[in-house]
Amino acid sequence: MPSPQVTIVEANGARIPAIGLGTMTLKGDEGTRAIKTSLDLGYRHLDTAAVYETERENAAALAASGVKRADVFITTKIRQDDAMPDDFARKVDECLANLKMPQVDLLLIHWPSKTVPIKLTIGALCKAKKEGKTKHIGLSNFTTALLDEAWAATTEPLVCNQIEVHPFINQDKLIAATEKRGMAVVAYCPIARGKVPGAEVLDKIGKTHGKTAAQVSLRYLIQRGMVAIPRSTKPDHLKANIEIFDFKLSDAEMADLRKLNATNMRVVNPPHAPVWDTL
Ligand SMILES: NC(=O)c1ccc[n+]([C@@H]2O[C@H](COP(=O)([O-])OP(=O)(O)OC[C@H]3O[C@@H](n4cnc5c(N)ncnc54)[C@H](OP(=O)(O)O)[C@@H]3O)[C@@H](O)[C@H]2O)c1
Repeated sequence: MPSPQVTIVEANGARIPAIGLGTMTLKGDEGTRAIKTSLDLGYRHLDTAAVYETERENAAALAASGVKRADVFITTKIRQDDAMPDDFARKVDECLANLKMPQVDLLLIHWPSKTVPIKLTIGALCKAKKEGKTKHIGLSNFTTALLDEAWAATTEPLVCNQIEVHPFINQDKLIAATEKRGMAVVAYCPIARGKVPGAEVLDKIGKTHGKTAAQVSLRYLIQRGMVAIPRSTKPDHLKANIEIFDFKLSDAEMADLRKLNATNMRVVNPPHAPVWDTL
């Protein structure tokens, strides 16, 4: 069972704990330790990807924690280089072998391919679900136009779009398009890769609640109905990042945080990124 205080986001049949641990870079013993600490603290949602090469650490941490597999929501993703159906299917099997489990909870297309037609990769994603290799399927880094294409091609419900969201970016258009489909928005880089701590407005709001700027950023996302997947190696940060269900930001505080969206600072923008939506 998820830690009692963590809310659940329901999306097209999936029940996703609103806080998950992002496990990018959580490699080796230090990574395994951080993932295990998160499970000890009550995290019941882990986010990995083939390209992170942290699936083995997720498996080791889960085994060491004593937490039942059925009680943890595990997401993995397959990137654009493996967008062709045969490559995709092979990668799914590799992911499951590394995770030491027959099925993940959620399998995502990590980035839309610029060369392989979406319907081919969506077909491979649906096939993985039909074969029982994942409970749910979803997308990551899909624009509004690409969401339409994906929905036109899919035979199974898509439960999320995992995208960059934090107070310093305006994703309103993409969030609205995602939610219109009943999908969850899973916010990656939810504390803007460390740019949130120390930010004046967030610090000030945090002080009135006895919370840190990072906690304010996470609470802002949760209060907007999103799922957030912060990453940390530090036990105190891991603890803080899940202690966000015992306070509420006021409408005025939410409005002040929304004003920061105009900063339009994108932390992740690799060459394979699509042409992003603008407002
Ligand atoms: N789908 C995609 O394309 C995509 C892209 C990027 C990321 N992601 C996913 O999203 C996850 C999170 O994104 P991210 O790791 O890039 O960025 P992030 O979670 O926004 O920021 C991580 C950084 O913030 C620090 N931090 C964490 N908690 C803190 C706290 N309470 N106070 C102060 N500093 C804190 C961490 O350092 P310490 O270790 O020192 O705490 C780390 O340097 C990734 O791990 C990955 O799973 C997905």
